[in-house]
Amino acid sequence: MHSLDLTADPDDRAAIYRELLPSLRSIVEDEPDLIANLANLTAALYQAIPGVSWVGFYRRLGEDLVLGPFQGKLACTRIARGKGVCGAAAERAATVLVDDVETFPGHIACDGATRSEIVVPVLREGKVVAVLDVDSDRLANFAAVDAEHLAHVATLAASLAW
Ligand code: SME
Repeated sequence: MHSLDLTADPDDRAAIYRELLPSLRSIVEDEPDLIANLANLTAALYQAIPGVSWVGFYRRLGEDLVLGPFQGKLACTRIARGKGVCGAAAERAATVLVDDVETFPGHIACDGATRSEIVVPVLREGKVVAVLDVDSDRLANFAAVDAEHLAHVATLAASLAW
């Protein structure tokens, strides 16, 4: 049984991630099952990052991105190639950071309360196998510090048994 007792200042996002990353590694290290590990990663991120209203993985299955483990309200189950922020991140194989989702053409509003979003690709051998989508009901809740550290989370996710 794992628990997350972070002591970092909630206003110091880098400190949160510095404390969180070793916990995430420890959560997944003894468990071989992909779904169990992705589920606990989303739970830990949801608990740890201030202002997060939804966090989850979409796996690439064929051309589509299909909903995987997540925390938050009901979400769109399937995203067609190139659609939304998730589709853009998958197509570009690069992180997409959106301060105000209303300014992103084609943003998919699963939850009308979402104001900002960051989507990080999960790459295995250069191919996008999934994206990690993190949403907030606050404008501009994510910045370069999140992109930098969520890339480490994506690398950890990529190391699992896909
Ligand atoms: N907003 C995302 C869709 C997924 S939900 O936010 C959970 C997008 O535009 O791709």
